[in-house]
Amino acid sequence: MQVMNIKKFSFTYHGVEHPSLRDITLPIKKNKITALIGPSGCGKSTLLRSMNRIHDLYPGNKYDGKIELLNQVNGSMQNILDIKKENEFIELRQRVGMIFQKPTPFPMSTFDNVAYGLKISGLKNKTELADRVEQALKDGALWKEVHDR
Ligand SMILES: Nc1ncnc2c1ncn2[C@@H]1O[C@H](COP(=O)(O)OP(=O)(O)OP(=O)(O)O)[C@@H](O)[C@H]1O
Ligand SMILES: [Mg+2]
Repeated sequence: MQVMNIKKFSFTYHGVEHPSLRDITLPIKKNKITALIGPSGCGKSTLLRSMNRIHDLYPGNKYDGKIELLNQVNGSMQNILDIKKENEFIELRQRVGMIFQKPTPFPMSTFDNVAYGLKISGLKNKTELADRVEQALKDGALWKEVHDR
C-alpha cells in the first residue's frame, strides 16, 4: 500500500528561472524504507521539504503536479499541494515530520520546546503536559541533564 504518491511533481524556488525538480514521480510504500540517493545539489532536500510544505515558510516558491498523502482514517488520497489553511498545515506537519541533521530548537525553554507540539494540538492540562514532557525527556535520555533547568 502507498502512503504517499508523488505525481509529475515540479518545484521552482522563488526568483529562480528553472525548476530545481522536474516531473518527479515516486510512490512511497507503507512500512518500507525509501532512500533518496544522488549527488549534492540534485534536489533530495528540496523534495523532502516539499513533502510537508516546509518551503511555504518562505514566500514565492512554486509547486506543480501532485503530492498525494494517504488519509489513514478514510483511505482517501489528499493532494497536500492544495492545502491553504493554517490548521491544515499544522495537521500535515504532525503527520509528515522531519528530523534534521542539526537540531534547531526554538528560542524558548527546553520545557516549551518539548511541549510545543502538544500545546498546538490543544493539550492544556498543566499536570498532563508536565508528565508528558518528563516522559519524553526520559525516553530521549535527556532528563538527568535538563531536569533542574
Ligand atoms: N533556497 C533556495 N533558493 C534557490 N535555490 C535553492 C535553494 N535551496 C536549494 N536550491 C538549489 O536547488 C537545487 C537542489 O538543492 P538541494 O539542497 O535540494 O540538493 P540536495 O540533493 O539536498 O544536496 P545535498 O546532497 O548537498 O544535501 C540546487 O541547485 C540548489 O542550489
Ligand atoms: Mg540536502
